[in-house]
Amino acid sequence: MTEKMIPLHADQDEHLCMSRRQFLLAGGAMVTLAAIGLPGEVWAAPLHALKASYPRTKIGSLSALKKGVPIDFAYPYPNVQNILVKLGTKAGGGVGADMDVVAFNQQCPHMGGPLQGSYKDAFQAIGPCPLHLTTFDLTRHGMVISGHATESLPQIVLEVQGDDIYAVGVQGLVYGYSAMTAKKA
Ligand code: FES
Repeated sequence: MTEKMIPLHADQDEHLCMSRRQFLLAGGAMVTLAAIGLPGEVWAAPLHALKASYPRTKIGSLSALKKGVPIDFAYPYPNVQNILVKLGTKAGGGVGADMDVVAFNQQCPHMGGPLQGSYKDAFQAIGPCPLHLTTFDLTRHGMVISGHATESLPQIVLEVQGDDIYAVGVQGLVYGYSAMTAKKA
């Protein structure tokens, strides 16, 4: 069986077809790159995760934040508890001059384990969850580092105006909700 070369330029019309093997190899490389991302570009990639918008609510101020010291706040409902934290490291969805201020829900997306008080500043991570030990990376949109959870930790979408920090939406599904509406499932 002969294989034709993958065309590099439009004028290489004698090589217009790609073999099945070449197609699979090229596709596999693209899928792998999409899955692992490129070093240093995780926060630059566009986000396509489910995002629900809610009324813009002031939750804190940049000048009041200390690196590695989380602040609790409720959003978008009084029973949905989150933390606002300055990581000291550029993060996906981060706001502020250093793009390092992020906010996350405090209920594990696996089975609702409480994550309060488990922020680890040395790793910019939350966890391990007390139920099944999942840990989440706050620099990468709450991605699972290890453990049983398969979903990222829901991230609170932030905006900054002057010194004020506002919550404007939720990216992901908070545990216990079938959708990010006012009532629990
Ligand atoms: S509830 Fe958190 S890992 Fe299972």
